[in-house]
Amino acid sequence: MTTMTAQATTEAVGLDAVTKTYGAVRALDGITWAVPRGGFTAVMGPSGSGKSTFLHCASGLDRPTEGTVRVGGVDLGPLAEAKRTRLRRERIGFVFQAFNLIPSMDVEQNITLPLRLGGTEADPAWLAEVIGRVGLADRRTHRPSELSGGQQQRAALARALITRPEVVFADEPTGALDPRTARGVLRMLREAADLTGQTIVLVTHDPMAAAWADSVVFLSRGRIVDELAAPTASAVMARWETL
Ligand SMILES: Nc1ncnc2c1ncn2[C@@H]1O[C@H](COP(=O)(O)OP(=O)(O)OP(=O)(O)O)[C@@H](O)[C@H]1O
Ligand SMILES: [Mg+2]
Repeated sequence: MTTMTAQATTEAVGLDAVTKTYGAVRALDGITWAVPRGGFTAVMGPSGSGKSTFLHCASGLDRPTEGTVRVGGVDLGPLAEAKRTRLRRERIGFVFQAFNLIPSMDVEQNITLPLRLGGTEADPAWLAEVIGRVGLADRRTHRPSELSGGQQQRAALARALITRPEVVFADEPTGALDPRTARGVLRMLREAADLTGQTIVLVTHDPMAAAWADSVVFLSRGRIVDELAAPTASAVMARWETL
């Protein structure tokens, strides 16, 4: 138990020998990694290297084929579906690569959905701040189909932040954004780590985005092949060339 407590204080999420297979495809091939609490980590790797699968397993959205995932020191393996869902709702925010907004709900309803699912309501001041920070104050009553791709992505980000989760997983949240809006989103993630001690895990293909993180983890064929601390865009690019 002492080990468990020690881990829980330094790691926000821990993976031990995690594999995920889809038939013959080994999407994750033995990932062992402690995501540092309050840190901002970027995950990079070629298309198909397992980044989304990694996020889905680390966040409890999906179960690994083998291995252990801990969130805040809690082993997700033995948890029944309902408990796992609750832990995820209370502690984790997730920005999906494909947004996953509910088409029939407007922006504000989409953003506040995780709160309503948990039986609470949005604090109006916090809701206004989150919506303002993602630049959607004048789109509150629009449906996803009435938004641009970048606006949908920002709504998905707001939805992940509204519950002030301990850990935010974001799967390419700047992929569809113009450089200035992308910077705004990255600054929000950076501040979530610096000001409120939230743990950020960001999947990105963009070396400039990765440079906002404290460290970059490189995935290749379902394995962690390198980690780069205090990344700069040029150092990330140089490492990327050798993947
Ligand atoms: N549900 C699934 N069924 C079968 N194979 C899958 C499934 N999900 C992922 N895979 C396979 O697992 C591997 C890793 O996929 P993953 O989506 O994690 O890659 P990624 O690194 O996120 O790629 P991208 O940068 O294109 O988003 C790929 O080879 C993919 O085809
Ligand atoms: Mg992906």
